Amino acid sequence: AGGRILDRRGRPIRDLRLSLIEACNFRCPYCMPADRIPDDHGLDAAGRLDFDQIETLVRAFVRVGVRKLRLTGGEPLLRKRLPLLVARLAAIDGLDDIALTTNGVLLAAQARALREAGLGRVTVSLDALDPALFRTMSGGRGEVADVLAGIEAARAAGFDAIKLNCVVQRGVNDDQVLPLLAHFRGTGVVVRFIEYMDVGTCNDWRREHVMPSAELRDRIHARWPLRPLDPHYVGEVASRYAFEDGSSEVGFVSSVSAPFCGDCHRARVSADGHLYTCLFADRGHDLRPALAAGEDALVEAATAIWSGRDDRYSELRGSRGASRRHVEMYLIGG
Ligand code: GTP
Ligand code: 5AD
Ligand code: SF4
Ligand code: SF4
Repeated sequence: AGGRILDRRGRPIRDLRLSLIEACNFRCPYCMPADRIPDDHGLDAAGRLDFDQIETLVRAFVRVGVRKLRLTGGEPLLRKRLPLLVARLAAIDGLDDIALTTNGVLLAAQARALREAGLGRVTVSLDALDPALFRTMSGGRGEVADVLAGIEAARAAGFDAIKLNCVVQRGVNDDQVLPLLAHFRGTGVVVRFIEYMDVGTCNDWRREHVMPSAELRDRIHARWPLRPLDPHYVGEVASRYAFEDGSSEVGFVSSVSAPFCGDCHRARVSADGHLYTCLFADRGHDLRPALAAGEDALVEAATAIWSGRDDRYSELRGSRGASRRHVEMYLIGG
């Protein structure tokens, strides 16, 4: 499996980020603000790819070159019978890695079943430790204690490479950065700080709200000295730093201050089967007609779309060539 299909910038496809559901039990103001996205928002179940279709889709993408699969949402733990799906995906030959991104609230209840089904890794989004701020940042829907319990449950279930993603907005939650590290340093849970991006159309993004990674790194370094680590592989999204005291590491995702489109090997598929070749794409390619025709047709369709890919939005941000319409984050899971 895995011919080397390159896009117009010479980039192979390596990662597939697959959204299982467009619904979420949070209403983070930067993603699904409660006053714009109603509670009953979402497709009915019939609008989502079913497990047979998802398995066929992943098999086809492995044939095109995908080695790493990330399950996202919305909130993927809202998808019914998820462990059953994970077990089917874990059985696919050629996938090296299956990970899941979650807000963590339902993780305590599901971690063990997911681990037993063959899920390899979990990444939990956590923007604040302070309970009141956390509540605000989840749109009044979440309790940080539940997320912390979810992380603990994941550890107890045997997940050992747990990562936390914290999106940092200046003046909103940048005061949470040191407390988050004080809490997780040395526990084996790796915290990554993500520059606030202009994804979707719901947030009123402004550059002043971005906390450049370099500034954050200096702030952390002043408290706990850091030294840079080599990337694990070409195109790793986060740049990694070790604490000099050897306790653990921290990561930075700097897609605003230091775009990494040159090594972008990621494709995204929404729950309703549309392929997006960039996080900032304005539209997706409907894969369902090919899917209906079977795995071979899907390989052909995915190959054609990937070969024509030219995206590099983060490198063009703000310039004339950059599209202003972007797919919503909750449709493709970041
Ligand atoms: P690992 O395999 O654990 O290293 O995962 P990852 O870093 O590829 O995935 P993760 O979902 O944890 O990515 C962290 C964050 O980086 C995402 O939530 C996005 O906000 C951002 N991100 C990931 N991929 C891209 C990308 O292709 N472009 C941009 N601009 N941002 C990305
Ligand atoms: N900028 C950066 N990251 C974002 N996420 C959602 N919206 C944004 C944004 N505007 C993150 C979530 C989660 C991941 C799926 O994407 O917080 O960690
Ligand atoms: Fe839900 Fe994640 Fe969007 Fe927050 S960022 S509303 S948890 S999908
Ligand atoms: Fe890839 Fe688009 Fe992100 Fe650039 S902006 S790294 S092309 S997903």
